[in-house]
Amino acid sequence: MNNFVNGFSKKNKLEKIDWIINNHFHNNKKAKKILFKYLNDDASIQSLHDEFIENTISNFYLPFAVAPNFLINGKYYTIPMAIEESSVVAAACNAAKFWSNLGGFKTKVLGVEKIGQVHFFYNGSPVKLKAFFKEIRKNIIKGLKSITSNMEKRGGGINSLELVDMNNKIDSYYQIFVKFTTIDSMGANFINTCLEKITEIFKSYIEEKQFLDKTDEKIDFIMSILSNYTPNCLVKSSVECKVEDLEKNNELKVDNFINAVKISKIDTFRAVTHNKGIMNGIDSVVIATGNDFRSVEAGIHAYASRNGIYSGLSNAYIKKGFFNFELTIPISIGTVGGLTKLHPLVNWAHNLLGNPNAETLMQIIAAAGLAQNFAAIKSLVTTGIQKGHMKMHLLNILNQLGANQIEKNDAIEYFKKKYVSHKNVREFLNKK
Ligand code: MEV
Repeated sequence: MNNFVNGFSKKNKLEKIDWIINNHFHNNKKAKKILFKYLNDDASIQSLHDEFIENTISNFYLPFAVAPNFLINGKYYTIPMAIEESSVVAAACNAAKFWSNLGGFKTKVLGVEKIGQVHFFYNGSPVKLKAFFKEIRKNIIKGLKSITSNMEKRGGGINSLELVDMNNKIDSYYQIFVKFTTIDSMGANFINTCLEKITEIFKSYIEEKQFLDKTDEKIDFIMSILSNYTPNCLVKSSVECKVEDLEKNNELKVDNFINAVKISKIDTFRAVTHNKGIMNGIDSVVIATGNDFRSVEAGIHAYASRNGIYSGLSNAYIKKGFFNFELTIPISIGTVGGLTKLHPLVNWAHNLLGNPNAETLMQIIAAAGLAQNFAAIKSLVTTGIQKGHMKMHLLNILNQLGANQIEKNDAIEYFKKKYVSHKNVREFLNKK
C-alpha cells in the first residue's frame, strides 16, 4: 500500500485517524479504539492538547507520581514526577526519607546565565569587521529595546553582546555571542527573538553603511539561535552526614560508594549509566513541571564532557569524618511561559511545589537528581538493582501475561520472598 499522503495536516482529527487506521492498520477497529480510549472526555482539555502540537490524534500518558519527604534547605517538598520506569519514584522516596533524617539536601544556584549566538561568515578583513561591530554595537542594543524592555523590568535582559572571531576553527567564521538573564522563563522564545532581531539590525547597518565595499567581499548569515549549553546556569545540590550514620543500619560500605563514583569519573561506559540514573530524577521532574527535557538533557551531557572526557556528574568524598555527596549541573528551566500555566496538570505540579520561581525549581530538580543517583549507587554497591527493580516490575510482567486481580494479589504475596523474573512469574501463573 502506498502510504504517502498530501495535505495530511489539512484533514480534521477524525479524518486523520481514519486515514491512519485505513492505511496503516487495515481498518482495524481495535487500533482505532485505542486512540479514542486515550482522548480526554473533557473537550476543553482535549482541545488544549490538540493545539500543543500538530497532527494530534490522541494523548500519550505517562504515570504522574509524587515523591514526598524531600527536605531541601530546611523546607519539605512533595515532588511531582512523570516517568514510566519502575522503581524510580520508589528510589526517590527512599533517598528523600533517608536524607530527611540527616539534615536533608542543601542546594544553591551558582548562576543563571543563558546563551545565544548569531553565526555568520565574512571573508573580508577581521580588523574592518571588528571596528564596524564596535561602531554599531550600541545601536544593536538600542534596536532591541522593544523586545528587551519587559524582561528588563523583571530584572533580566541582555548581559553582554560580543563579536567572536572563530577563524581559528573555520575560515571566515564569526559569532555574535550574547549572554542573557531570563528570570523565571526558560527564555528560548525571548532569546531567539532577540537573536533574529540582532541579525536583522546588523544586516540593515551593513546595507546602510555600505560595509561591503570590495567586489568580492561578502557576508553570509547562517543562523541565529539560543544554545542549550548553559554552563553558567548552574545549580548545586549536596548531602552530608557522618560516615557512621551512612553505614548504620545499612549494608552500605562508604568506600564502595565512593569508588563507584570514582569509576564514573574515568570510564565513559559507566559514566553514561551513572548519569542516566541522575537523569531519571531530573527528567521526571522537568517533564512534570512542563519543561523541555531535551534541552536539559543535551546541556547536562555536554557539561559532563566539559573536561574532554564524558564523566559522572556527581562527586563523593569523606572530609573530617563526614561523607559528602554532591551534584553540580546546568539546568535551564522556567516557571512561567511555555506549558507552565497552560497544561492543567503541569500547573497543578507547580502548585504542589508552592509555585516556585525558576531558581527554586532548579534546586528542587537538582535535589531529585542527587537523590536518584544516591539510591542507584546505594543499591548497586549493596543488593544490586534488580531485586528492587524487578519487584516494582512485577506488576508490568503480570499485566503483560494477562493476570487477573486475584492472581496479581497472590503473585505479589508469593514474590515477596522469591526472585522475580519473567520466567518465574509465568511459571507461577501456569501452576494456578
Ligand atoms: C536505571 O534506570 C538507572 C541505573 O542504571 C543508574 C546507575 O547504574 O547508576 C540504576
